Amino acid sequence: MDKLVIEGGKPLSGTIVIQGAKNAALPILAASLLGDGVSKIEHVPHLLDIEVMLNILRELGCRAEHKEDTVVLDTSAVHTSHVPEPLMKLMRSSIFLMGPLLARFGEAQVYLPGGCAIGERKIDLHLQGLKALGAEIEEIGNRIICRADKLIGADIHLGFPSVGATENIMMAAVLADGRTTISNAAREPEITDLQHYLVRMGAKIMGAGTDTITIEGVNRLTPCRYEVIPDRIVTGTVMVAAAATRGSVVLQRTQPAHLTSLIHVMRRSGVQIIVDDDIIRVDGLVRPRAIERIVTAPYPAFPTDLQSQIMVLLALADGVSIMKETIFEGRLKHVDELSRMGADIRVDLNAAFIRGVPRLYGATVEATDLRAGAALVIAGLAAQGRTIVEQVHHIDRGYEKIEVMLAKLGATISRSLPVPNNS
Ligand code: UD1
Repeated sequence: MDKLVIEGGKPLSGTIVIQGAKNAALPILAASLLGDGVSKIEHVPHLLDIEVMLNILRELGCRAEHKEDTVVLDTSAVHTSHVPEPLMKLMRSSIFLMGPLLARFGEAQVYLPGGCAIGERKIDLHLQGLKALGAEIEEIGNRIICRADKLIGADIHLGFPSVGATENIMMAAVLADGRTTISNAAREPEITDLQHYLVRMGAKIMGAGTDTITIEGVNRLTPCRYEVIPDRIVTGTVMVAAAATRGSVVLQRTQPAHLTSLIHVMRRSGVQIIVDDDIIRVDGLVRPRAIERIVTAPYPAFPTDLQSQIMVLLALADGVSIMKETIFEGRLKHVDELSRMGADIRVDLNAAFIRGVPRLYGATVEATDLRAGAALVIAGLAAQGRTIVEQVHHIDRGYEKIEVMLAKLGATISRSLPVPNNS
């Protein structure tokens, strides 16, 4: 398994351009199945999860090419709506295929998905939504078979504003008969991006970004060209890394409006942030101040996907901070690893009590999931001495060549590949 080797203690400095958003690109690629023909999706990052999604689409009969940051996808020869189990298990986002396959082909056969081990991650809301649209759903072991001759619009209230369930229901409802409303819908920017894409394909949807989404079903959708939004979590990760290393970084091709809660927290902690159109400049010249309490919650509140990264800044801050994780129950695993680096953090149920220390020290640590891994990289950049981050494949699911991106900002970071076993 690859490792990242980081010689820490150097302030990051320079300019980088932010990659396209993984969490927007994945449902958009799945939604391409709703049309018959060639779509061109731009600003798609080269990531493991994207590769898995393209491989699944190829298994279904699509032709897919990912060159530079553009995916060209031809859906005209799709011959099956059965997603193979081994591919399904590689990532949770494979569940996005259920809505579009059902809507276009009247049937979808999928398996319980895999993904980061950060909590239970049920799919009951996805299934309830599709049932409300008239799908018959049979669960045999971990196999899920959905069928519907014709989906019918319905009023669907989500018990929790699940991002994935909102997206799956949107993708199924665009080809249903009549009107669907989703209330208590998730409001994340990736949902708005999916709406923009579907509208460009000819769908009639409004309301994304609010808690009520209304969809008037249409008979067919047409493939189109589309550009994915910038990745707000990668943007946030680099912003925190700049501040934690007391560096100065300019981030280009961002959407600052998608990061309001992070910008607010970082400014309160004393980090200088200047926003100008799609550019964010971060200066972390002084020791950060503690933040008395941060609670992760659905957008627009503080994102769970930036919880582990901001914790590194708080671990180095002056004073005691409290971080409460409310979205995923298993998402404080980085605390043990940060403690090995000298952080003073105590966990009680879903809350972390962080007493800032003046510095962290390099250590060998393990990325337990995608965002926890990103946090350990930030900690390694800020720490004194050498840090080795193991299980980098988790980080590769969401960050395009993270070591190349950070080296451009002056970090001393390299990937150590496994030594081939010749015996
Ligand atoms: C998406 C993001 C992920 C982010 C998360 C929360 C993608 C590809 N991934 O994941 O990076 O961390 O939003 O912002 O976009 N839940 C249920 N039943 C369901 C679905 C969800 O109980 O049917 C629960 C989950 O267990 C979890 C919470 O709802 O506790 C949030 O999950 P959800 O918003 O669905 O996250 P994902 O779409 O999986």
